[in-house]
Amino acid sequence: MTLFQTDNTADGFRGGRDRFGHCPVLYREVVKYIATPERPLRLIDGTLRCGGHSSLILRSNRQAELLGIDRDGDALERAADVLSFAAERIRLVRGNYGDLKDLAAEVGWDTADAILLDIGVSSPQLDDFSRGFSFREDAPLDMRMDRRSPVTASRILNHSSLEELARIFREYGEIRKYEKLARAVVERREQQPWSSTKELAELCARILGRSRKGAPPAPTLCFQALRIAVNDELGELSRGLEAAVELLSPGGILAVISFHSLEDRIVKNKFRTEATSCICPPGCPVCICHHRARLQLVTKKPLTAAADEVAENPRSACAKLRIAVKI
Ligand SMILES: C[S@@+](CC[C@H](N)C(=O)[O-])C[C@H]1O[C@@H](n2cnc3c(N)ncnc32)[C@H](O)[C@@H]1O
Repeated sequence: MTLFQTDNTADGFRGGRDRFGHCPVLYREVVKYIATPERPLRLIDGTLRCGGHSSLILRSNRQAELLGIDRDGDALERAADVLSFAAERIRLVRGNYGDLKDLAAEVGWDTADAILLDIGVSSPQLDDFSRGFSFREDAPLDMRMDRRSPVTASRILNHSSLEELARIFREYGEIRKYEKLARAVVERREQQPWSSTKELAELCARILGRSRKGAPPAPTLCFQALRIAVNDELGELSRGLEAAVELLSPGGILAVISFHSLEDRIVKNKFRTEATSCICPPGCPVCICHHRARLQLVTKKPLTAAADEVAENPRSACAKLRIAVKI
């Protein structure tokens, strides 16, 4: 399969990018495993964004029906436009993929044949500086994917305890000087509440110093940590994976794309546990766990983007795709 064709079709993929200038990562692999062979297919895309992957699947398999979920209202509006060529085959719902069983029930689906999760923040969210995910421009410390949520980054910085901030920086940012950074955040808020991305980036640079050669700039990990906390991204991932395994029909496909090791570890462990029939401690003479495998792994190791895709879309370099089939 070639990179997106240069065409002027309804969803307007041109030169590997959709009309908003964004590429879905690992799209060849996603289409290969989910859309082929052409057959009736109930697909749930739990992280729809502008419908990049879903658009390709709906075009490749004319019998596919889609339930598209995203927590970001802006993303859903764009997706409705991009996917209008298949309007009679799609339903779009605003919500969290952690609740995908309930969301599927709302549209009358009690099973699905394929579930796709392409997790994390999207390029449009990062590029819209007003949303506060980036420190390239000064903006309010927001970072909510769902702007109806009451929890913003500034709320966490201004109201969380020292211990909670340290935990967030350690667990979600893997920041070595997590305690020092948490203390500096608390000291500064006693003078003036946190509100600006630029001020936080300046504090990170001062406290964490210059990053090692090849490592991301000092504020990057702090912003990642806060974003994960604001959106409960790892909790959502665990809930979403469990819901997906339950909802899939036998033979159904679960495909998960992650962008950093914290996420991939959760996916890898869940897949491994669900692909194992007994999880008793080693040496246990008889099985006492009664655990039964629910998944069969399709990819023992995660799939990564080919060189031509990375050249076209550098963001795909970090992406890992794991695929399993429901037993
Ligand atoms: C990397 S983008 C997905 C890109 C999409 N696969 C495409 O090809 O256009 C991630 C999207 O997932 C959404 N998202 C992240 N966590 C979510 C969650 N727990 N529930 C629903 N949507 C979520 C974000 O708002 C964002 O739009």
